[in-house]
Amino acid sequence: MGQIKKAAIIGGGVIGGGWAARFLLNGWDVSVFDLDSDAMRKIGEVLDNARLSLPVLADAPMPKEGTLLFAETLKQAVAGASWIQESVPERLDIKHNVLGDIQAQCAPDAIIGSSTSGFKPSELRAGLLRPEQVIVAHPYNPVYLLPVVELVGGDDEGSKGAVHLAATLLQDIGMKPVILKREIDAHIGDRLLEAVWREALWLVKDGVATTQEIDDIITHGFGLRWAQMGLFETYRVAGGEAGMRHFISQFGPALSWPWTKLMDVPDLDDALIDKIASQSDAHSGAYSVRELERIRDRNLVGFLGVLKQHHWGAGNCFVDWTNNLRKTADKIARDTSTQALSYYQSDVLPAWIDYNGHMTEYRYLQIMSEATDVLLGRMGVDANYLAGGHSFFTVETHIRHLDEAKLGDRLTVSLQVLQAEAKKLHIFQTVTQQDGVIVATGEQMCLHVNLQSSRAVPMQSPVAEAFAELAAAHQSLGMPEGAGRSIGAQK
Ligand SMILES: NC(=O)c1ccc[n+]([C@@H]2O[C@H](COP(=O)([O-])OP(=O)(O)OC[C@H]3O[C@@H](n4cnc5c(N)ncnc54)[C@H](O)[C@@H]3O)[C@@H](O)[C@H]2O)c1
Repeated sequence: MGQIKKAAIIGGGVIGGGWAARFLLNGWDVSVFDLDSDAMRKIGEVLDNARLSLPVLADAPMPKEGTLLFAETLKQAVAGASWIQESVPERLDIKHNVLGDIQAQCAPDAIIGSSTSGFKPSELRAGLLRPEQVIVAHPYNPVYLLPVVELVGGDDEGSKGAVHLAATLLQDIGMKPVILKREIDAHIGDRLLEAVWREALWLVKDGVATTQEIDDIITHGFGLRWAQMGLFETYRVAGGEAGMRHFISQFGPALSWPWTKLMDVPDLDDALIDKIASQSDAHSGAYSVRELERIRDRNLVGFLGVLKQHHWGAGNCFVDWTNNLRKTADKIARDTSTQALSYYQSDVLPAWIDYNGHMTEYRYLQIMSEATDVLLGRMGVDANYLAGGHSFFTVETHIRHLDEAKLGDRLTVSLQVLQAEAKKLHIFQTVTQQDGVIVATGEQMCLHVNLQSSRAVPMQSPVAEAFAELAAAHQSLGMPEGAGRSIGAQK
C-alpha cells in the first residue's frame, strides 16, 4: 500500500465502526473519537466480524492491518488524517457542531466525508469555514463488506475536486463510489428504501402481513434478484424476449391503480411500534444482534464470492480490489547468492485459521499456486502469451505439512525448478515462517498446453528459454529434501 495513510472517524457507532474496519484492514491507520466510553468495545466487536469476513474475499495478500487509536480529543483524532469521516447521529444541529469543530482542527486539504443518510451537502455546509471541503460519503452497513458509497458534492470546482479524489481513494480500498449528478434529500438508495419501508409499515399496520411474512417475501424472492441485477435489469428480463419496452407496456398501467399508499405515512403510535417490535422479536429474537451480524456477514461473503467468480455486479469490485492488492503486495525477494527464489510472501489471516487453531490445508495450496503464478509471470507467461493460445495446466500436486502456521505468521514461499523440458515443468515449493522454520513443502507437475486443443505442446519462445536458463541455475542447488515423496514412501 506504500506510505501509511491515516483516517479519522468521528462517531464510532454502527457506521463509524464499519468505516474504521474498512480502512484498518486496507492498511490505513485509524483514530476514532466518540463521546461514548463504550465505543471501544463496540468497535472491537465490529472489527472482529470484519476480520472474519473481508479477507475471505481477497485472493492476494492483504496489507498489514493499520493501527487503531481511540483519541482523547477530536483534535488528536484528526491530526495528520487525510480522510475524516463524520458518523455522528442523524441530527443537523449535532452534525453542524461536529463539522465546525473538525474544520477548526484538521488539515485544509483533508477530505471530510459525512455518512449522513438524508442531509444534502448544502445543508451540512451552511456556515462552515471551508464549505467545499465537506462532501457526503454515504455508505451501507456493513461498510467493510458492502462496496457502494454515494458521493455528493456541490457545484463549485473545489467540491468537484474533493469528490473525484474521494472516489479514487475509495476504489483503492475496494469500494464502489457512485457520484450523484445533483444533491437530493436522502440521496438515491435511501429514497428507494424509504418507499419500500413505508409500504411495509402499512402492510403490518393494516394486518395484511407480519414482519416475518414480509421478510420471507423479500429474502426468498425479489431480494435475491436485486442483489445481482438490481431493478431495471431484472425488469428487462421479466419483459421476456421483447425486453424493457414490453415490460413497461404490460405493467406500466398498473402504476396508476391505487396499489400503494406511498404518499401517506402511517402514524408511528405506540400501538404500531409495539406490533412491529413484538412481531420482530418473535421472528428474530432468538439471536443477539452480534449473532445476526455474523450470520449476515457469512451470507454476504458467500454471495459476493459467487459474484466475484462470475465477474458480475458487486463481484467486480472484489476482482479489482484483489488485483490492486496483488500489485502492491511485497511479493518478490530474490536470494542472489544461491539463485533460489523467494517468490511470494503472505501473512496468515484470521479467515485462514481452522477449528484446530492453525492455517487450514487448502490455504497452503492457495499460496503455493499464487507463488507459481508469480513465477510464470516472471518467465514471460503474461496476457500476450495467453492470448497467443498457450498456458500451463497443473496435473499433479503433493503437499507435506511439517509444522504449524499460526495466525499472523509471515510465510515465504520459495520455488526451485527441478525440471523444465519441452512440455514439462516440475517445481518444488518450500514454505517457511519468519524464523526460517519450514512449515510445508509442495511439489507440482505442470504441463505446457495449447489452450484450443487442451493438449500438451512444447513451451514457446521466450518462455522456453527463460525456464531453461532458470532450471540450469537451480540444478546447482541439488535435490531438495522431500522431493519425489509420495504418501507411504519414506525415502
Ligand atoms: N445505521 C445505518 O445503517 C446507517 C447507514 C448509512 C449511514 N448512516 C448514517 O451514519 C451516521 C451514524 O449513524 P449510526 O447508525 O452509526 O449511529 P450510532 O448511534 O450507532 O452511532 C453514532 C455515534 O456517534 C457518537 N456521537 C454522538 N455525538 C458525538 C459527538 N459530538 N462527537 C463524537 N461522537 C459522537 C455516539 O456516541 C455514537 O457512538 C448517521 O448520519 C446515519 O444517518 C447510518
